[in-house]
Amino acid sequence: MIKQDHITITINGKRYKFSVGDGYGEVPPNETLADTLRNRLGLTGTKISCNEGACGCCTVIVDGKDAVASCMALTVEFDGREVLTVEGLEDPVKGLDPIQQAFIDEYAFQCGYCTPGIIMVAKALFINNEHPTPEQIQEALSGNYCRCISQYTVLRALNKLAGNEDAELANIVRANDEIENPIPVRQVLHLSPYANGSSSSHSID
Ligand code: FES
Ligand code: FES
Repeated sequence: MIKQDHITITINGKRYKFSVGDGYGEVPPNETLADTLRNRLGLTGTKISCNEGACGCCTVIVDGKDAVASCMALTVEFDGREVLTVEGLEDPVKGLDPIQQAFIDEYAFQCGYCTPGIIMVAKALFINNEHPTPEQIQEALSGNYCRCISQYTVLRALNKLAGNEDAELANIVRANDEIENPIPVRQVLHLSPYANGSSSSHSID
């Protein structure tokens, strides 16, 4: 167990000093970085989904280069370190980060819940490698899950940014080709009264 009375963390360029302990307002030694960011600082762009290191939604960048799942990291471990969240990506002078702009240009999201985590993983990748290959992009994103199936547009956005225009198209074709037995949509339940006035169902072939 790490024993500290105080910790100081630079988050999005601002220094925060936290008291460590179990008292009111203190950061307990077992508090995760994701909870500190969201619940103490209001930085809710960092999402929590699985809360066990499996989905990538909570990813932040540490010390300017490392993508870290903040739900799996204790805040007290970040004393003296720098954390970047999705809120800190936009440059106050230049505007949105090129990755954020690429996601907007390519509509690389649907509900958007996974998007901050994917953007932060991509940012870490591009910090370390300005022109990643399609394979490196896929490998970097292999720990990020999107239940809205935005992956194809995410790959398109990132490959365009990396200058992999041709390879990006090949990726999408390959991905579609691999869907040999798509899940059949047989029945759509309209449970909302806004859909057609009453609960009903119909089949789609
Ligand atoms: S919420 Fe942290 S990895 Fe899923
Ligand atoms: S866009 Fe909805 S979970 Fe990814």
